[in-house]
Amino acid sequence: MRQKSILITGCSSGIGYYCAKRLHEEGYRVFATARKEEDVQKLREAGLDSFQLDLNDSHSIQKAVHEVQKRTGGTLYALFNNGAYGQPGAVEDLSRDVLKAQFETNVFGTHELTTHILPMMRKQGYGRIVQNSSVLGFISLRFRGAYNASKYALEGLSDTLRLELMGTDIHISLIEPGPIRSDFRKNALQKFLENIDRDYSHFKEEYVNKLSSLQSDKDTPFTLGEDAVYAALLHALESKEPKARYRVTKPTTFFWFLKRILSTRQLDKILRRVE
Ligand SMILES: NC(=O)c1ccc[n+]([C@@H]2O[C@H](COP(=O)([O-])OP(=O)(O)OC[C@H]3O[C@@H](n4cnc5c(N)ncnc54)[C@H](OP(=O)(O)O)[C@@H]3O)[C@@H](O)[C@H]2O)c1
Repeated sequence: MRQKSILITGCSSGIGYYCAKRLHEEGYRVFATARKEEDVQKLREAGLDSFQLDLNDSHSIQKAVHEVQKRTGGTLYALFNNGAYGQPGAVEDLSRDVLKAQFETNVFGTHELTTHILPMMRKQGYGRIVQNSSVLGFISLRFRGAYNASKYALEGLSDTLRLELMGTDIHISLIEPGPIRSDFRKNALQKFLENIDRDYSHFKEEYVNKLSSLQSDKDTPFTLGEDAVYAALLHALESKEPKARYRVTKPTTFFWFLKRILSTRQLDKILRRVE
């Protein structure tokens, strides 16, 4: 079979960077994209095929898709929708613009890119789409409302798309990681400081703890490395029967189980205590 190709979003750091490197070593033709030019340069220096893709910018998405078409002659085996960020803050402290921005990246940009890639896959008759969702795509926690809503939306779109792709050889999988070592917390801290008016919030005092947990670089007892997500991604790409969902880390499996057996009220009592 010819060399498999994959487009990955958000490769400047964390899971995207790690998976791009590992798939390249595995023999894939990897299009490792990033939204900043300096990261594109860094990725090229690491030996990867790279160009810019900013999920907040339709023109950038179209340019990136065109670049893939040009480089592959119009084929692409897989798309890994990985790029995203977390906007912390209580639901009542989220302005319309801040919530919109969270959806622009995590949902609308990801969706737009997928709609541009799907015709290529339909034409060639096969393909894999892998969505980097989260445990927070099915479990809600305090101060994660914007991110929760964006990942729930991604799960909803993906579940529908899976039904619409039935009978084709195009498969869509969701990866649902719990805590993974990456720049995620650092980037979330930045968004918290930029977009949440902490001094005038009802949660002013609790935000002090939130701030210190975002500033900490200590792992939780269940934090895993990026390799845990890579293992799921590789299965979603290589298996004849890729799973609809990959639950990665113990908290994800645990909460999935609790959600199935407990009432909403019982589950809330537990989730209310999670920081
Ligand atoms: N780490 C975890 O605990 C965890 C848990 C569950 C799910 N996830 C998911 O895993 C994925 C990767 O996150 P990570 O943990 O590797 O965090 P990360 O190190 O912060 O990486 C996030 C990546 O997304 C990119 N990104 C942000 N906004 C973008 C935009 N507008 N266009 C294109 N790319 C953009 C970032 O680029 P910049 O450097 O330019 O900002 C960065 O490359 C995300 O979907 C996240 O929701 C992570």
